[in-house]
Order: sequence, then C-alpha cells, then structure tokens
Amino acid sequence: MIYILDTADTKKIARCCEFYPIDGVTTNPTIISKEHEDFGKLIKAIRNIIGDERMLHIQITASTCADIIKEAQAVQEYVGGNLYIKIPISAEGLKATSALKKMGMKVTETAIFTQQQALIAAKAGADFVAPYVNRLDNIVSDGVNVVLETVELLKAHNLDTKVLAASFRTVEQVHKIALAGTHAVTLNPALLDALIYHPLTETAVQGFSNDWKSIYGDKKILDMLK
Ligand code: E4P
Repeated sequence: MIYILDTADTKKIARCCEFYPIDGVTTNPTIISKEHEDFGKLIKAIRNIIGDERMLHIQITASTCADIIKEAQAVQEYVGGNLYIKIPISAEGLKATSALKKMGMKVTETAIFTQQQALIAAKAGADFVAPYVNRLDNIVSDGVNVVLETVELLKAHNLDTKVLAASFRTVEQVHKIALAGTHAVTLNPALLDALIYHPLTETAVQGFSNDWKSIYGDKKILDMLK
C-alpha cells in the first residue's frame, strides 16, 4: 500500500514523515488555500520537507489543455523532484494528460467519481486515478464499490495505472478500499493517527508497564543489562 498525506500543512507533513512510512503528499486548490500562504513558497517548503524522492501531487487550476500544459511545466520547473500533475477529469484534461505523458511528465487524474471516468483516464495515460470515496458515500452512493470495480477494470484491461483512493472520513472506509486492492491511499493526518489507534492497545501497553514496575520498579532494560 502506498500511503500519501492529503494536506499542505507543513508542520503536520513533517510530523507524519517522521513517524509514519509516508510515500508522498497530495494537494488540491482547497487544501492549498487553507494554509493562506504564497503558493510557490508553500510547495517548495513541502518539497524540502519530503525530499526529492517522495511523490508530490500538485493540482493545476487551468481548464484548457494548452493552459494545463503551461501550468504543469511551470510547476515542474519550480518544484522539481518526483512530481505528479493532478488534473481534474474533463475532455481538455484528458487531452492534456496524453500530451504531458508524451512530454515525459507524470499525471494523476483526479475528481474521479465513476469507474468509466477512471478507465478512460487510464487509457489517456494517467499514472494514478483518484476516486473520491467519502464524497460518493455522502450522496448515498458506494465509494468503496467504485474503487473495487476500478481496480478490477484496470486489471482486466492490462492498464498499468494505479488507483489512488482519496476523500476519506473513517478508518472503515480505508479498510474496505485496502481489501478491494487499491494501490494507494491519500489521507489527512488525523485519519492516519486514527488508523493506528485502538483502546485495547493502550490497555495492553499499560498492563505491560504496570506488571514490569511491580517487580522491577523504575529500572529499564538498559539499566539491567549493564
Ligand atoms: C485528493 O486528491 C482529493 O483532493 C481529496 O482527497 C478530496 O478529499 P475531501 O473530499 O476530503 O475534500
């Protein structure tokens, strides 16, 4: 599983990269605008924290093929490293996807809500397709099923495109898309913390500590191996 952070908050990115096995960061205009910072400075700061090897998925704001390509080239030049240009799916976006792939750039097709959007984006050459699970669940649709069938379609048609499942509110959603065989997931830091939390784990660790102290007091393993 590829774990990506869905935030542009540099403090949270630094903390998550220190403790979790993080493969990259995704942003979109909403996530960027929450930080109230200069766009260029912010994406450079994120790149400095995560390094050149981790993936950075930056969403463009242009809507025509020609402008998407110009923005993609500018972002590539500015931020460098392992970069994916996020493009919301549209006819212009698909044209830009094919063009950017021919130019050697990497693309994540985003704002995916159906299996067929994902399939055609894959055919256009997208490296990742990003279905929005929670936004589908919110309208009583089935986000997990869209991810599951997208994984199956890509396999059935021998396409190398990976599914980057996005938009989550619950650990249960993350668990179900992992079972469905998704390749990658992008999560906000709070959900990443929730992923490793269990009250019984805390109880178990407290029990270990109490039992040790009842016999050895405050001594630690290192004190006892001198
Ligand atoms: C990621 O690529 C998406 O932009 C993001 O996950 C959308 O999530 P939201 O539904 O929480 O805004």
